[in-house]
This record gives sequence, structure tokens and C-alpha cells, in this order.
Amino acid sequence: MGKDVIVACDFASKDALVEFLDKFSNAGRKPFVKIGMELFYAEGPEIVKAVKERGHKIFLDLKLCDIPNTVKKSMKVLSNLDVDMTNLHAFGTKEMMKAAIEGLTREDGTRPILIAVTQLTSTSEERMKNDLLIDAPLAEVVEHYAKCAAESGLDGVVCSPHEASRVKEVCGKNFVTVTPGIRFADSAADDQVRIMTPEKAKSVGSDYIVVGRPITAADDPVAAYERCVREFVD
Ligand code: C5P
Repeated sequence: MGKDVIVACDFASKDALVEFLDKFSNAGRKPFVKIGMELFYAEGPEIVKAVKERGHKIFLDLKLCDIPNTVKKSMKVLSNLDVDMTNLHAFGTKEMMKAAIEGLTREDGTRPILIAVTQLTSTSEERMKNDLLIDAPLAEVVEHYAKCAAESGLDGVVCSPHEASRVKEVCGKNFVTVTPGIRFADSAADDQVRIMTPEKAKSVGSDYIVVGRPITAADDPVAAYERCVREFVD
């Protein structure tokens, strides 16, 4: 599994995204790009096609969670968009995850990397207990959901870098870990709580780091991206 830096392009419009990506094109760089709900709902599937045409790999972060049949059909639509990675909520159960793989797999047997969200990083143990009636410790829930994802045939999970090595222990070293919550040692945490540097994320076995504001809000986004690559990949 090749390690890579995925840039979370949390922009409100295509214009803002294009202006950002032009800086990278001018520097001869083509980062792996994450397109989330905000941009997808604002611009529709055309935004995926436009970024693909520019030659970027795409992680389409739409976190599907619905009845198996609906997820299967939606995944089929996403596989036709030719993204490289997409995701769903493990909360939707194994049946839903298996249906998702069926929908995502193209006629030639290929499919994008499919990963599961275990528990959102915004869900604390207290919220899980009070709002979701889940009494188990958060770490146990994350491990269990990761195991269910692996048993359903998914490729990996989105998790905190602090959970990455444990997920690998439970699900195997080839099970992909995609980890947000990345900050340089000298940058602001923003609203992220459990953060890690790119260098440390590499040492705990993350396969992909997802980096947003430390790159998108930097004075020199290309330099910030290159620093991530130096610390995490090289
Ligand atoms: O700007 P920042 O580096 O915090 O962006 C992190 C990205 O990763 C955002 O797009 C956020 O939605 C996403 N993410 C996260 N925590 C998760 C799952 C996704 O921060 N558990």
C-alpha cells in the first residue's frame, strides 16, 4: 500500500477549488483530493468529473448510510464517476456494507477503494452512551466496527491516527487506515482534538493522511503540501 497525502478540499464552490488547484498545477503537483458533501451538494457530480479531468485522484467523502438496496444503487452511480476512493458508515451494518461493494464493483471487476467511518471523531463516549444508547467504550466500538468492515470485504476505515495501529492489529496490516486530524508540530489545532503530526502518523502505520486547513489555509499551500509529503511519504 503506497502512502499518500490526501488534501481535504473543503471549499464552498468550484471557483474556489479551481483557484486552489491551479497553484498546484503551476508547481507541477497533482495531489490526491478529497471532495466532501459541501462541495458535492453545491456543485453536483460535475465537480468530480472536472477534478478527474485535471488528473487528480479523488476520495469522494459522502459517508453513505441507508438501507442496503439504496446504498448498492448509489454506489453503482459513484463507481461510474470513476473516483479512486469512497466511503460509508459502518453503522449501516454488514449487510449494507456488502451491498455497497456489490454496487461499487464495475463489470470488469475493478472498484474504487471502499472504507468505512467507524465513529465520527465528533462523537464522544458520553454522546455515544446518552444519544445512541451504546454502553461499550469508544475504542471497543471503533475496533468492532472496523472488524465488521473487514469481514464485509471493505478495504479499510477512516479513523484517528491514534487508533491506526490498533486497527491494523485487529484487522491485519493490509487493512487501510485513512487518518484525518493531522497537524504540523507548529500549527493550530483548530477544532480537532486528537491530533498528530504527519511524521508521527507515518510511524504509527497510517496509509493515507487527510489534511485540510494546514494546507488549504496556509500562506503557501503548495509548500505546506510538500512538507506533508516530506514528513509522511518520503
Ligand atoms: O481541516 P482539517 O485538516 O481538520 O480537515 C480534516 C478533514 O477530514 C475534514 O474534511 C473533515 O471533515 C474530515 N474528517 C475528520 N474526522 C473524521 C472524518 C473526516 O476530520 N473522523
